[in-house]
Amino acid sequence: MNKILVTGGCGYIGVHTIVDLIENGFEVISADNNSRSSDTILESVEQITGKKVKNYKVDLCIYDDTFAIFQENPGISGIIHFAAFKSVGESVQKPLLYFENNLNSLINILKCADEFRVDNFVFSSSCTVYGNPDSIPVTEQSPMKAAESAYGATKQMGERIVQEAVNSNGNRAILLRYFNPVGAHPSALLGELPLGKPENLVPAITQTAIGKLPMMQVYGSDYPTRDGSCVRDYIHVCDIAHAHTLALNYLFENKNENNCEVFNLGTGNGLTVLEIIHEFEKISGVKLNYKIGPRRPGDVIAIYANNDRARDVLGWVPKYNLTDMMVTAWKWELKLKEDESIFRTKNAGLN
Ligand code: WQD
Repeated sequence: MNKILVTGGCGYIGVHTIVDLIENGFEVISADNNSRSSDTILESVEQITGKKVKNYKVDLCIYDDTFAIFQENPGISGIIHFAAFKSVGESVQKPLLYFENNLNSLINILKCADEFRVDNFVFSSSCTVYGNPDSIPVTEQSPMKAAESAYGATKQMGERIVQEAVNSNGNRAILLRYFNPVGAHPSALLGELPLGKPENLVPAITQTAIGKLPMMQVYGSDYPTRDGSCVRDYIHVCDIAHAHTLALNYLFENKNENNCEVFNLGTGNGLTVLEIIHEFEKISGVKLNYKIGPRRPGDVIAIYANNDRARDVLGWVPKYNLTDMMVTAWKWELKLKEDESIFRTKNAGLN
């Protein structure tokens, strides 16, 4: 059985990908320092798959600790590298933290992949690398415009570092450019767990709807789009997860045409912020408390994917539609509230 190292395995996309890998016959280990996640989420993986996943609570910016994971697991045959900070807004405030964390951890993982001859590498990239595109939908050949944030710059640099590394050592890599991952596992045992006030749209919607947030803002309604709000390509996290399994199999079956290939992971359908809000209100029956606020600095006006390559080459076909995305996101938020109330009841007498 192929053993796969998933870095950032306790994160939102990482944990959904671990479930998909296990369900497709892979053995998985995780490396996640849990600075922005909790490894208790792996208990949910065990509930769903019946498999226990070991997490190495390691800071991948420390080479020796990263090296030790590979020494202890000589059978690693593939790596999926998610581990990175990913808040666009925070990266504008703390760029050096983002360059240090996101690039040093990547370089250490690539050094170990070279040292231990692990030649199947999948890198978590982002549509952020396109910046504000001149034309949409974007293909993998669309030019990389100047990154709008340090986060976006770490993804652009990260892609180049991976390409240079595999060009030099004969390993192989796939770069997956996610559009906007949303939703949650249908079991409602896995989902997005933003720390503090959510930056991203869908958790902001569900937290407002459930009352965790009193209100949310739509950042701008004066854009040159069909209703004035920004356009994005929202893609279910389980579809994103399955693309990683397909990408690894593509490498294991030696179908790759060159040693570093890029794929867009989006539905190919652009939707506005207000359309997402209206779809959520429709499926939840909740009238959302939002107001139109000023534009958010760094926001791209409109972007969505041409996903032909992922469909034609990886055989990737997104399964979940917009309703599924909203329904699973809402079910997850409702489950969190239920768990919190159970937790409060259980611990009521403790303080
Ligand atoms: C989407 C739209 C906001 C919150 C994200 C990730 C990035 C990358 C791409 C994977 C924008 C609007 C949001 C709110 C709002 N993902 N919005 N009110 O900025 O497209 O980038 O996806 O690599 O890591 O950050 O996503 O969800 O923050 O914003 O109006 O309270 O929703 O202005 O137009 P974004 P987002």
